[in-house]
Amino acid sequence: MKNTVATFQKAKQDGKRISMLTAYDYSTAKLEDEAGIHGILVGDSLGNVVLGYEDTISVTMEDMIHHGAAVARGAKSALVVIDMPFMSYQSGVYDALCNAGRLMKEGRANAVKLEGGQEVVPQIKAIVQAGIPVMGHLGLTPQSVNAFGGYKVQGKDTETAQKLLEDAKAVAEAGAFAVVLECVPAALAEKITKAVPIPTIGIGAGAGCDGQILVYQDMLGMFSDYTPKFVKRFADIGGAMKEAFQAYIAEVASGTFPAEEHGYGISSDVIEKLY
Ligand code: KIV
Repeated sequence: MKNTVATFQKAKQDGKRISMLTAYDYSTAKLEDEAGIHGILVGDSLGNVVLGYEDTISVTMEDMIHHGAAVARGAKSALVVIDMPFMSYQSGVYDALCNAGRLMKEGRANAVKLEGGQEVVPQIKAIVQAGIPVMGHLGLTPQSVNAFGGYKVQGKDTETAQKLLEDAKAVAEAGAFAVVLECVPAALAEKITKAVPIPTIGIGAGAGCDGQILVYQDMLGMFSDYTPKFVKRFADIGGAMKEAFQAYIAEVASGTFPAEEHGYGISSDVIEKLY
């Protein structure tokens, strides 16, 4: 059965934890979906882990639509959320509405995600009014890395912690169905989780959130440029891939691959008649 925003809401009411992972392609989305994940985020982390940029700033609407549509084709049960990339909503309500619409129509998203608190309330309200579910994103919001001056834990003093709590309430009141809390002290994330009626999805925000999300390459050891403290490695698929690549290279070099069973036969008569 397809997970919907109602499934997320019910999970919070029932005290059941929500699991989410990122995906950027059909095969990975299908594997996560078959494993039983509740939601898949086509994150603009695409810029880092798939496209090799140093941040998410250069990610475009076309990138998100292209990868989002592939994920949507692979996700039969999981709720598919597609990130609104940098400058697709900050520039105003009209842009936000048009771009959210494109992610739904062309990317086949079930919901969109955007970063920010009180400053994006008009955009959230307009998108929700158009019938498009919105997931908020607070704390370390990577699209603001230049304003933050780096990737740092957010909300560590009273003033910034209070602002995060108010932002979470504002995002919920604007109509968001859930909110990601990234790199927020665990006790603050727990307080926010208790204060808002919508599910909080944590990444580096402790166990007190209603759900968790990780970038799948991080949890599988497939991305080695940097590893945030909050990542737990659930398998070393990156290591297994490297070993398999090395075995392939060695077999090609030695001539042991391909073997006879990997090729196609032809009658010797045909070969003999060639001149
Ligand atoms: O882009 C992304 O992958 C995200 C998650 C880290 C929440 O926004």
